[in-house]
Amino acid sequence: MAKPAQRNLVAILHAAVPPDAAADEQDTLVQIGVVAAALKRLGWTPVQVPVTLDLAAMAARLKKMNPAIVFNLVESLGGRGQHQHLPASVLDAMGLPYTGNGTVALFETTNKALTKCRLADAGIATAPWFEASEAPPKIAGKLIVKPVWEDASIGIDAGAVVGGVAEARRRMAEMAARHGGEWFAESFVDGREFNIAMLESPELPPDRPLLLPASELRFIDFPPGMPRVADYASKWDKGSFAYIHTPLCLDIEDELAPLIERLGEIALECWKLFGLRGYARVDFRLDRKNEPFVLEVNANPCLSPDSGFAAMLRKAGMSFDQGIDMIVESRLRREAAVQRAS
Ligand SMILES: Nc1ncnc2c1ncn2[C@@H]1O[C@H](COP(=O)(O)OP(=O)(O)OP(=O)(O)O)[C@@H](O)[C@H]1O
Ligand SMILES: [Mg+2]
Repeated sequence: MAKPAQRNLVAILHAAVPPDAAADEQDTLVQIGVVAAALKRLGWTPVQVPVTLDLAAMAARLKKMNPAIVFNLVESLGGRGQHQHLPASVLDAMGLPYTGNGTVALFETTNKALTKCRLADAGIATAPWFEASEAPPKIAGKLIVKPVWEDASIGIDAGAVVGGVAEARRRMAEMAARHGGEWFAESFVDGREFNIAMLESPELPPDRPLLLPASELRFIDFPPGMPRVADYASKWDKGSFAYIHTPLCLDIEDELAPLIERLGEIALECWKLFGLRGYARVDFRLDRKNEPFVLEVNANPCLSPDSGFAAMLRKAGMSFDQGIDMIVESRLRREAAVQRAS
């Protein structure tokens, strides 16, 4: 008979962070700290479990610990976003409940090109794109070149925005040669940028997450010629022009209420399309006619105190602890439903 789970124990699963890791990976340590502190205040006993590509070691450690639930903060493995879903897959095989999104949603949304295929098939607007291996379609105007599998604006710098398809192909080849991995190019959507975060509540049906207040990423005083993109520096280089001039704004003009409502509806469509659970964030950009395009779906959004998600919780009048509690409790509710059904 299976050993009963250690009722108060939460394993915080996260990528092992080497001491020389880049700023985006170091951010995992900040997230672990705040999530562990919140879990303690909520009466749980959190234990950190760093993970590498040695998934057998992870499974053995978790089997021994037998936690009530795993809080999944793994955003990449072995330094690659591509492997983010692997620990979740092992947890599925072990029958261990974990917070946030499941294996398939993590896989599908980490691959930005695959996400876009699924969005386009479902009739959700996303900018036209092509991958390095494909014949380029006819796309007029500027494009932005991005890595297929990475987030946190890895590989996005001032050179990412290019004038046309031929230049995009050159940039993709150059980035693949320099950094490895797969790259794609998509039409540059030249308007305002908004984020919509969703949070599953143990009191609401799983397919009706709470919509947190929208946030806008503003581009202040960008000089002519400087692309208005949230590049790597804007997220991680605290002294840079881009970091200082891209504040997150939560006071959206009242006139934009119908637009924000529409973004919320699209975000909920994404929730259903990708079978999301727990919490997620959808990033949008408007074109010049104010038509929204989904840039990407973040199935494992950052929970750091200075993240958009934390700011949106505050704006909703919720404490960080309440948000963490909802993430854990909504997962436990799903687990109890599965147990009842079996
Ligand atoms: N098609 C586009 N048109 C205009 N700007 C874009 C486009 N795609 C990306 N960007 C800019 O680049 C930023 C990063 O892109 P994206 O959100 O796709 O990648 P990410 O690295 O996964 O980011 P995150 O840190 O949100 O996970 C966006 O916030 C936006 O400013
Ligand atoms: Mg994004």
